[in-house]
Amino acid sequence: MVISIILAHPDLKSFNHAIAKTAVETLKSNGHKVIFHDLYKEKFDPLLPAKEIPEDTRLPDKIKKHCAEIAEADGIIIIHPNWWGQPPAILKGWVDRVIRPGVAYEFLEGDSGEGVPRGLLKAKAALVYNTSNTKTQREQNVFGDPLETIWKNCIFGLCGITNFHRRMFNVIVNNTEKQRNNWLESVAKDINIFFLNDIF
Ligand SMILES: Cc1cc2nc3c(=O)[nH]c(=O)nc-3n(C[C@H](O)[C@H](O)[C@H](O)COP(=O)(O)O)c2cc1C
Repeated sequence: MVISIILAHPDLKSFNHAIAKTAVETLKSNGHKVIFHDLYKEKFDPLLPAKEIPEDTRLPDKIKKHCAEIAEADGIIIIHPNWWGQPPAILKGWVDRVIRPGVAYEFLEGDSGEGVPRGLLKAKAALVYNTSNTKTQREQNVFGDPLETIWKNCIFGLCGITNFHRRMFNVIVNNTEKQRNNWLESVAKDINIFFLNDIF
């Protein structure tokens, strides 16, 4: 199976990079083909230009490749820190440019965009890993856990993926090495549940 991993964190020494490394290694040892994008490393341009908005536009090769990969992925893994209750801007721009009509969703005939779209992504599962410095209860009670709504409902639900699993690792700023190792083990365990082998 082909699994797409999208990582958005500028620091190679970050826990987000450690999550990505664990995910790549575990998937490969399960026999999957991994398509890994470190958006900062590849200097992904997050700005959606006006000419790219129409569905039938001619896309730049780089965006066309991202679109083809995400459309064909059997599984998707997104990894990023919580920045102001949102993904880093580089990842928001990736969503704007890649999770586009005709690739990730479409409107039914007679619907010019006001209705409920049909999801087109064929991935059988999507996993999202986040890190933050806010305890879970405060994130939920005070901020309403916006990343859960964004990824589960606004993006993957809308694009047809309901087998969704998200994990927030917190609090990063004062954690221990033992805690980090336990968290990385839990990433490998998740992957073994969701993407064990070709029959997942
Ligand atoms: C621009 C920016 C915005 C941030 N916003 C939040 C936030 O809204 N809530 C929060 O708990 N942590 C916030 N943080 C802290 C990061 O979530 C935290 O540094 C990161 O998850 C740590 O993971 P890492 O070790 O992989 O860098 C923010 C950090 C930055 C740089």
